[in-house]
Amino acid sequence: MRILSGIQPSGKLHIGNYFGMMRPCIELQQQGESFIFIADLHALTQLPEPKALRERVRDVALDFLACGLDPAKSTFFRQTDLPQVTELTWVLACLTPVGLLERCHSYKDKLGQGLAPNHGLFTYPVLMAADILLYRSNLVPVGKDQKQHLEVTRDIAIRFNNQYGEILVVPEASIREDVAIVPGLDGRKMSKSYDNTIEIFGAEKALRQRVMKVVTDSTPMEQPKNPETCNVFALFKLFANAAEQEELRQRYLAGGMGYGHAKQAVFEQFWEYFRPMRAKREELLRSPDYVDTVLREGAAKARVVADVTLADVMLATGLR
Ligand code: TRP
Repeated sequence: MRILSGIQPSGKLHIGNYFGMMRPCIELQQQGESFIFIADLHALTQLPEPKALRERVRDVALDFLACGLDPAKSTFFRQTDLPQVTELTWVLACLTPVGLLERCHSYKDKLGQGLAPNHGLFTYPVLMAADILLYRSNLVPVGKDQKQHLEVTRDIAIRFNNQYGEILVVPEASIREDVAIVPGLDGRKMSKSYDNTIEIFGAEKALRQRVMKVVTDSTPMEQPKNPETCNVFALFKLFANAAEQEELRQRYLAGGMGYGHAKQAVFEQFWEYFRPMRAKREELLRSPDYVDTVLREGAAKARVVADVTLADVMLATGLR
């Protein structure tokens, strides 16, 4: 079984990325042949500063490796190192109804925000389908927000196979319902574009201040509070064990505890949780060539698979 997922280098990685995508990928490394890549072509749809884009690719690679991506178990590579993906994107685009892309929520959200969308943004799901289909992936661990893109991918693969024969593997999404949505500071889904994130590897003081900003209701200190509707408690649950969760739950229900106290507890849990990853990141930073070497070797392994799929596609379509 091949398990593949990608992550956009769109800024510093945050705990929403970690619980939604990174940790599931890291846990699945043992369960099959794992492919993980940095989706820099997707990030270009936002036209980031060239210097920022370069740095973010490196940072994402470093962060992911620090968090437990093991290059001995996973093929870890950069999307642009395999230009085959853009060639496949074109072929798939010719099988993709425009209406299918027009119905994509992420695209419609951008329109709703009043952005003038570029064509890359519109075609984003086709490039994503190419990522998945090029490597004949069976399972794709993603956050809930990517569910529709997986359906588009399946649809395109089925259309291709109906037209040209059983060439492409129709993938399954793997979405963890338990941790699929991590609330951001303002209670909306944690996302770079809402500026409501808690970075994994930020500075201690700044992160503590961020956590203190999590939005709560205005129940006074002495009154009982509802843990189930509280953003602070939702964050606490990500890091704490069952006994710790139960203890804080009782303190919510008993009253007499302010939200400030619960926020401090979230920060402490968060900081402890990522302590070994911070140490690992420091260690990796001491070998400056390490990241480049990992990505180069990953690309070489990915190329073996990509070349076979693309050759099959070119032959089937009559392009060769
Ligand atoms: N669109 C994904 C996201 O923003 C990133 C991505 C690109 C991806 N290509 C992919 C994820 C292929 C899984 C498989 O999170």
